Amino acid sequence: MQSVLMDVDTGIDDALALVYLLSRPEVTIQAITCTAGNVGARQVALNNLALLELCGRTGVEVAVGAEVPLEIPLVTTEETHGPQGIGYAELPKPAGEISPRHAVDVWVETVRAHPGEITGLITGPLTNFALALRREPELPRLLKGLVIMGGCFNYQGNTTPTAEWNVSVDPHAAQEVFAAYSGLPQDSLPVVCALETTERIEMRPEHLQRLAEAAGAAEPELVLPEHLQRLAEAAGAAEPELVLPEQPEGQRSRSRNPLVACLSDAIRFYMEFHRLYDQGFVAHMHDAFAAAVAVGRTPYATRPATVHVETGSPRLIGTTVADFRGIWKEPANARIVTSNDPGQCFDELISSVGALARSLPLRSS
Ligand code: RIB
Ligand code: CA
Repeated sequence: MQSVLMDVDTGIDDALALVYLLSRPEVTIQAITCTAGNVGARQVALNNLALLELCGRTGVEVAVGAEVPLEIPLVTTEETHGPQGIGYAELPKPAGEISPRHAVDVWVETVRAHPGEITGLITGPLTNFALALRREPELPRLLKGLVIMGGCFNYQGNTTPTAEWNVSVDPHAAQEVFAAYSGLPQDSLPVVCALETTERIEMRPEHLQRLAEAAGAAEPELVLPEHLQRLAEAAGAAEPELVLPEQPEGQRSRSRNPLVACLSDAIRFYMEFHRLYDQGFVAHMHDAFAAAVAVGRTPYATRPATVHVETGSPRLIGTTVADFRGIWKEPANARIVTSNDPGQCFDELISSVGALARSLPLRSS
């Protein structure tokens, strides 16, 4: 069994990361803690409660932590992830409640109770984890491991020319986290999934169609004479789930599979955003890759490095720099992912999330 404690800023790719982990029978999600980032922390928590219920998985604690960064004002990005943080997807108000515990208490108490057993996964700004480290400096030794989605090394930023979003939202927290890992044994250092490898996890429309097929929600071969097609549709039979660039912006999924519909509506928004910024009708699934890394189900290679996060320069704040050669004569504090296999990662995500979707009751048309 794999035990994961995740801190997120859900977020469309955070949502895919969560449903992927929920699709893994061997994974136990100890708790989900929420930080402000893509959207506000409480909206992040509501998104996670709603996604858990969509997947029929209640009983996972969802806690809110820091609602603002350590030192700089909060910036959110509804233009990237939608007003609620899950694109065009509209999920019912969750029945579940946000935990009364603070995220920092969840991290410190849970990891102390399960020494050496829990893999931490952080797919948002590092505010909560930095605060947890202040409370319990032994966290790096008590955790089984830590995977962070964040930073960019010798690679264009996605928030400023040199900074990646999660680090950019709270650079002081990121710097504290890397400093806390300085000098630890290499196999204890955080595995850092940064933009130069996460942007290779580039979701395209055919991936969404494959996901719908894996969920049994699209029968692309089911090409019937038009009158029979109409009859089949009237009977709620599957129809091809297509998210295509030529479709009107904001078109909603008609899939009767609730998870397919949610992901199609969420990811369409993300694809439209990437197209707006000349990256094509694609969606970078940064966090889903980090989740597959955290549970060891996608190949990757890493290199040890000493990471510094710039916090003093107005123009370069949030920039992450990696010393791979020991020039600074400081011990390594991270293992940066240097290669991955996008094809295998999508095969893994699609087959596993598709199987979860297939298990869910269909919604009425
Ligand atoms: O830069 C990409 C990261 O920022 C992802 O985690 C995305 O969800 C946003 O949080
Ligand atoms: Ca995220």
